[in-house]
This record gives sequence, structure tokens and C-alpha cells, in this order.
Amino acid sequence: MQSPPGAYTVIDGRRCLYFVGTGYLGLQGHPEVIRAACEAVQKYGVHSATTRAGLGNSPPVLEAERRAAEFFGTQCAFCFASGYAGNGIMLAALNDAFDVLFVDELSHYSALEAAASTELPGHRFRHRDAGDLAEKLKRRLPPGGRPLVLSDGVFAARGSIAPLDEYVQVLQDYPEGVVLVDDAHAVGVLGTGGRGTWEYFGLAKEGLNAFGGRHFLTATMSKALGGYGGVIPASEAFLDRVKSASHWYDGASAPPAPVAAAAAKALELIQADPGLRERLGTNVQRLKTGLRQLGFAVDDTPVPIICLTIGDAVNMRRIQRELFEREIAVAYLAAYAGLGSEGALRLAVFATHTPEMIDALLDALQRIA
Ligand SMILES: Cc1ncc(COP(=O)(O)O)c(C=O)c1O
Repeated sequence: MQSPPGAYTVIDGRRCLYFVGTGYLGLQGHPEVIRAACEAVQKYGVHSATTRAGLGNSPPVLEAERRAAEFFGTQCAFCFASGYAGNGIMLAALNDAFDVLFVDELSHYSALEAAASTELPGHRFRHRDAGDLAEKLKRRLPPGGRPLVLSDGVFAARGSIAPLDEYVQVLQDYPEGVVLVDDAHAVGVLGTGGRGTWEYFGLAKEGLNAFGGRHFLTATMSKALGGYGGVIPASEAFLDRVKSASHWYDGASAPPAPVAAAAAKALELIQADPGLRERLGTNVQRLKTGLRQLGFAVDDTPVPIICLTIGDAVNMRRIQRELFEREIAVAYLAAYAGLGSEGALRLAVFATHTPEMIDALLDALQRIA
């Protein structure tokens, strides 16, 4: 890739229509986001070379946290250098709050790795299956035990949504149960305010302790938010616990000022312009409707990820190659959680695609697939 990822992206020297990756709102290449990052490089350098607990609280990092808290409607937010680390950080912070962990079997690598690294017992439940979760809770949780349920909010490859409403229902029998959602692909996209999967299900309360109590969220700013690094929105008290339970505050470099500045600007733009998400929603609908008209089985959620299995791996590689020859880029994922042995084509649609661009993809698929 030789340009910012956007509706058009330069790949191997060719300017392609780009339906790949996770820049759903097109903010990575937004001129104001790029300008904010450039100004921060000039002002603060490339990175702080110290921890947050040292002198690494640069103004852009604090601004990103302030903007994130405002966006999520929480008292505070904690930004750290890796979205991937979020699940581990959260499990460390919640360590005293649960006895047995239950994780969706197709959760992201970062969730499965974090689950494997806790010393507490853990079990996998069937993908998006609240019934299986209920069953496993009955069989695996000792009387009086406190469960923690861990899942992606939106699954990266298939674009399916975790049924958080059903999990919450199941946990009614376990008053101390906790749900932790890795909302990497939903934040900025799902929910009336773009706050992610909790909000999509109407389960994110407004106010200082939103996502506190028994519903938690970790996310990344490297997808729809157009920046880079992890973010946990929560109450101040909970974030004190987060910062002391692992060493991302006092033992890791602070997020680089330019990427924090980019994320802060992206958060500002999302809040100032709800039209961004509306355009994304319209584009998702246009692409999904068009695909259905071509005969593909496609869900009708507002998730901008579409997973297509068209014949075998050889056929899907051919489709990807022939689309690329027409200067249209889509991803073929050979191996990813839940995709099966042949893999799948993954299409991602952005707010910055025009109707003509989406129609060009549909037209090419009709000819090639
Ligand atoms: C569900 C999920 N969680 C976490 C991550 C890691 O985020 P980052 O790439 O920002 O470290 C990803 C990235 O692909 C993801 O899909």
C-alpha cells in the first residue's frame, strides 16, 4: 500500500477502488487528521521515550483521552499504545471480579491469548450461542461462582454481531457476572452515537459510569477511529484499577503524540459530523442490497464487513485477482477464525465510497464471480 487507506488506495503502484481493511469512516486519510498528526510531530517529536507514569502524558495523549471520554459518555478513558493489548489489560483489571472465564470460541486472537494467559479457569462457548453459554455456565461454574463472558462485539472477518442482549439475559441468574466486549470493529460504527455494540443493543447507559458496573468495553483507535492504539472508556475509579493491574501506564512507552493527535482529531470529527456514520450506513445498505440482488446471502445489519464464500479457495483467489486487474481491491482471507478450510472474500465498505464506486464493485462481481 503506497497511500493512506481510503476509497481509492494505491497498491503496487496502481490506484485501486479499495474495499479492504478497517478504515470504515475513512478518517485515516482525512486531511484534518493528517494535519493534526503532522503538527504533533513538529511540536512533540515522534514519541515521548518515557512511560505515562514518567513524563509521557503529552497534551495529544491527554486530549485523545478527553475526547474519548466525551465520545463514550464516560468519566474518563485510558489510551495505550496497542489495541491488541486491551483484552489482557482488562482481564488483569477484572482479575478479582470473576472466578471462571467464558470466551466465544471465535473471538479475536487477542481475546483468546488474553484468556489463555489468565490463571483462572476458562472455557470456550460456541460462537454467538447464548444457549451454549447458559449450558456451560451451569456445568462449569461452581455454586456462587462469578463468571466473566468475553467476546468480540463485531467479528472481524465475518462481520457478525455478538448477541450481547442474550448474554445479559443469561447472566441475570448470576448477579455478579461480568461481560467484557472487544469492540474494535463496532466503535465509531454501531449504535445511535457510534459507541459500539453495547449501544447498538440499547445497553449503554448515559452518564459517568457508562460501561462501568458489569458491562465493559475495550476498543482500538486503529479502525473506524482513524488513529492507532487501544482505548478503554470507564469510570476514574475503574481506570485507576486498570492502570495498576498491569504495566501499560508505568512500564510501557506512552502512545506516540502524532497518533494520539490523529485519534483526538478523528474523535472530534465523528462527534461534530454524525453525517459520517449516516453515509457509512447508506453505503452498507447499498452494497448489501446489491449483493443480495446478485444472489449472495448477506445479512442486513449495519456492519460494514461482508464475508462471501464463493466456491473454493482457488475460485476466490481468481476472483480477487481478476478484481485487482480491474483496479478493485478486496481481501481474500485464507485462514481466519470461523472461515472454514477454503477461507473467504472479505469486503469492507467505507463512508467515503460513492454510490458509483459501490456499483462498480457490484458490476465487476456480477461479471467475474
Ligand atoms: C477484534 C479485534 N481486537 C483487537 C484488535 C487489535 O487492534 P490493533 O490492531 O489496533 O492492535 C483487532 C485488530 O485486528 C481486532 O480485530
